[in-house]
Amino acid sequence: MNDLSPSRNLALELVRVTEAAALSAARFMGRGDKPAGDQAAVDGMRLVLNSIEMSGVVIIGEGEKDEAPMLYNGEQVGFGGEPEVDIAVDPIDGTRPLAEGRLNSIATVAVAPRGTMYDPGPFVYMNKIAVGPAAKGAIHVERSIKENLEAIAKASGKRIQDLAVIMLDRPRHEELKAEVRRCGARIRMIDDGDVAAALMTAMPDSGIDVLLGIGGTPEGVLAACALRAMGGEIQGKLYARNEDELRRGREMGYDFDKILTMDDLVSSEDVFFAATGITDGELLDGVKYSATGARTHSLVVRGTTGTVRQIIANHSFEKLEKISPIDY
Ligand code: FBP
Repeated sequence: MNDLSPSRNLALELVRVTEAAALSAARFMGRGDKPAGDQAAVDGMRLVLNSIEMSGVVIIGEGEKDEAPMLYNGEQVGFGGEPEVDIAVDPIDGTRPLAEGRLNSIATVAVAPRGTMYDPGPFVYMNKIAVGPAAKGAIHVERSIKENLEAIAKASGKRIQDLAVIMLDRPRHEELKAEVRRCGARIRMIDDGDVAAALMTAMPDSGIDVLLGIGGTPEGVLAACALRAMGGEIQGKLYARNEDELRRGREMGYDFDKILTMDDLVSSEDVFFAATGITDGELLDGVKYSATGARTHSLVVRGTTGTVRQIIANHSFEKLEKISPIDY
């Protein structure tokens, strides 16, 4: 017989991880210092991550051990004990916007059962298509843009000209942009932050229907965890920047022609995701300071139930500074 009593929602604990990262990093908004902002977010994130009862291995982290002193790929994190999990972190998705004082910088973390998250190795780019629940099952990364947009429009009960496509504003997307225009859909350009962009496709009032284009592979795995929980879908293909990367990938057993489905990116439904705004954005508000502390805005998602929570938290620095090493 199934145990029907409510089980632990790790995402409600993970939100303290992204709140700590956001509170630490927000001090660096507009200060022009990318490494310092990143270090602050990593320190805040790691401190709280290690207080959570779980045995985690970082699958998506800050990179290789030698270059990243903390939260490196393969690092063991968590307080220990059950559950055994894979962890994906992006302490700051949007390091540049944070340093330059621009929009859409967030802290994110995802957790899934051990062995269920895709490990992209050193391959940084992925061609992505992501949609919310309305168009789940209608997309295919290898179809033409036109076919995908037609399928998304049909599944969502809209016309192509009603659709809003979100994409990173990059020279590599010129042809994609032209093709979306030829199809008659509308475009929302973003400077950075395609985790938030992918999630917006699954947020009912965002006005965004689909994310298209080439972005970070780690961000693709994080978005897959969130979309899996929220009932959306993402598909992708690793994207090699040059012949050398292609050859290296082949040597390491990576297939750049393989379609990475939702199941490839995260194969379990039992996934947890949290994100907190650092600077203001369309998905989340940024950290706001007051005379006594700060306010954070977070998204907390659990795959097993599909519950999506938004949490506004008011943090008192006077109290926190007595018990926490974080420099608020
Ligand atoms: P970082 O903050 O980690 O630099 O990522 C920002 C980001 O915009 C991601 O959201 C996106 O996936 C990636 O960079 C795109 O890479 P690039 O800026 O090289 O086009």
